[in-house]
Amino acid sequence: MVDLRSDTVTRPSAAMRRAMADAEVGDDVFGEDPTVLRLEAMSAERAGKEAALFVASGSMANLLAISVHTRPGDEVLMHQDAHPFNYESGGAAAYAGVQIRPLAGAAGILDASAIPDALRGADDHVAPARLLCVEDTSNRGGGTVHPIEVLDALTTTAHAHGLSTHLDGARAWNAVVASGIGLERRARGFDTVGFCFSKGLGAPVGSVLCGSRDAIALARRVRKRLGGGMRQVGILAAGAIFALEHHVERLAQDHARAARLAAGLRELGFAATEPSTNLVFVDVDDAPAMLDALAARGVRCFATGPRRLRLVTHLDVDDDGIGQALATFAALAEK
Ligand SMILES: Cc1ncc(COP(=O)(O)O)c(C=O)c1O
Repeated sequence: MVDLRSDTVTRPSAAMRRAMADAEVGDDVFGEDPTVLRLEAMSAERAGKEAALFVASGSMANLLAISVHTRPGDEVLMHQDAHPFNYESGGAAAYAGVQIRPLAGAAGILDASAIPDALRGADDHVAPARLLCVEDTSNRGGGTVHPIEVLDALTTTAHAHGLSTHLDGARAWNAVVASGIGLERRARGFDTVGFCFSKGLGAPVGSVLCGSRDAIALARRVRKRLGGGMRQVGILAAGAIFALEHHVERLAQDHARAARLAAGLRELGFAATEPSTNLVFVDVDDAPAMLDALAARGVRCFATGPRRLRLVTHLDVDDDGIGQALATFAALAEK
């Protein structure tokens, strides 16, 4: 079985499990888990922010960021493909009480001019826009990496109009490796940045939210309110530390395999996107039927629309797995 559904399907390696088993722990709600404190310090430093908070998931990092930067009744601007608008169960509306304003832009990337165009003034009739969220890499956009000038233009424009800024960096390390530009630089214009350990970095659980000391203190309170305060969670933080120390540079291998997969699919006549990172999208006539035919032959992927498949490379897919996936697509192309 080659599982290309998501980079979240990876299982912790023996070395990562050992690091987790050996972790020194304490009660993190009391602020006494040394491994969590170490992970938070490492994360804040790498993101170039004052503080960080270990959280259960990327969705929780986004929800905490939205809660920190807004009040109920506010509006949050983001790309129409962004994760909180599409895949977070309406959490921003349910728990932060905000409305999301989805904006258009090619390949999951907004143009800074979309921000002033979306603002509607201070009239009592309108929900005031308070926050811009940017997703890098953009998942539905194709795993695309924002050029640094675009990130700078988005954050400068947002701040000039009085908005706070949050970077949903669920796959921020893919963007760092693909662009060769460090996280501190990519996140510089953002008030908060979240990233995930449980995607390309291969840890079983966890994400982090980084920002100013005040922002993270408030996020910690909201995390507690949501029931997200965890106790001897250093066991999980140790997996995340292992991932940060061992699995960042190797993301380049996932990107190379995605490029090989996409090129092979195009040679077979499939309409595959040109990947910037580890996500490949393929347009087919009937995505559910194709999904079933692939699964029956041992290749799993996702349908992201009635005619679109997503294939994701990750730590648990090697060169042979890519070969097997291509051979399976080739067998289906001949039918
Ligand atoms: C861009 C982006 N943001 C946030 C998330 C949410 O992460 P989690 O599944 O850990 O809640 C995902 C998950 O795939 C994602 O792709």
